[in-house]
Amino acid sequence: MSETKRVLSCIQPTGDMHFGNYFGAVKNWVKLQQTYTCYYGVVNYHAMTMPYNPKKLRNNTWELIFNLLSTGIDHERLFIQSLVPEHAELSWILNCFTSYGQLTRMTQFKDKSAQSGEQGGEGFISAGLLNYPVLQAADILIYRPSFVPVGKDQEQHLELTRNIAQRFNNQVGKEYFILPEPLFTEVPKVMSPADPTRKMSKSAGDKHYINLFAEEKRIRKQVRSAVTDTGDTPEGEMSAGVRNLFELLKAGEAMDAYQSLQSDYEAGALKYVDLKDAVADTLVGISEQVRARRAELDANKKEVKQQIKASTAAIRKEAQQTIAEVKDLAGLMNVRF
Ligand code: TRP
Repeated sequence: MSETKRVLSCIQPTGDMHFGNYFGAVKNWVKLQQTYTCYYGVVNYHAMTMPYNPKKLRNNTWELIFNLLSTGIDHERLFIQSLVPEHAELSWILNCFTSYGQLTRMTQFKDKSAQSGEQGGEGFISAGLLNYPVLQAADILIYRPSFVPVGKDQEQHLELTRNIAQRFNNQVGKEYFILPEPLFTEVPKVMSPADPTRKMSKSAGDKHYINLFAEEKRIRKQVRSAVTDTGDTPEGEMSAGVRNLFELLKAGEAMDAYQSLQSDYEAGALKYVDLKDAVADTLVGISEQVRARRAELDANKKEVKQQIKASTAAIRKEAQQTIAEVKDLAGLMNVRF
């Protein structure tokens, strides 16, 4: 019998989890656990690449762990990156198999370093920001996954990971690293309620995302004030705001409401208030479930943290195995010898 294929993905601890993160990634992670052996990392080393606050980073790391568990991620599948220091060690080694020029040309590096230079940015661009994709390559290669579920914005990083793996394999004369493939799944693109032409995200401010764990009142208020039609949509086309509301209904699997409101729309009889009520009901329903699980986990904080430390330690064993083999292949002394 062949071993089930491995999947790896990671997420940065940057505060609130919103419906964009949930529908766009985390919900899919929960599902993938049924088919694959999954490795899901909370990557706190990555969260240091832009100016940050250490206290917030610690809080956000646990916060994200609890949130992921609340959505249905198994604790055995989760690890905290900094508790597996082999990621940083492999990252150094891989740096020496990475083209400096290629790093400077990465889209994310160009965008983020430009942001830092703008007004309001801190004007400080760390070498960590440049080397970010190499650490990401280490996250991936260290567990030898076949697939990495990623969004379009991470495709370039995965391509670089494959280039690094290939260069390492060539240099050491062995097909050691598996070249991981992207796993594209049909995931909805959730837009900001305040500006449906941009992605739902925290970086744009509070109005631009709906927190998955928010109070019912707040969710309803945000949906009620979502932009529907700004009047600049061409005749016969659905406006970006209305499309986003329908998209949220579909993402939340409220198919009955979706179909009946779609027919209203086609008949020219759609009332925005009905659409918004249906969306709010759907989001509140999902939020109530994860909030209930979150409350249970919060009542056992200590045990939950212990569980995560234990699962990280188990996952770390695999990383240690890889790093020992890599050092051997790379001609480095190893503590084992
Ligand atoms: N760069 C990814 C993001 O911003 C996060 C990440 C870090 C990641 N390491 C990874 C994603 C490994 C997939 C695999 O979303």
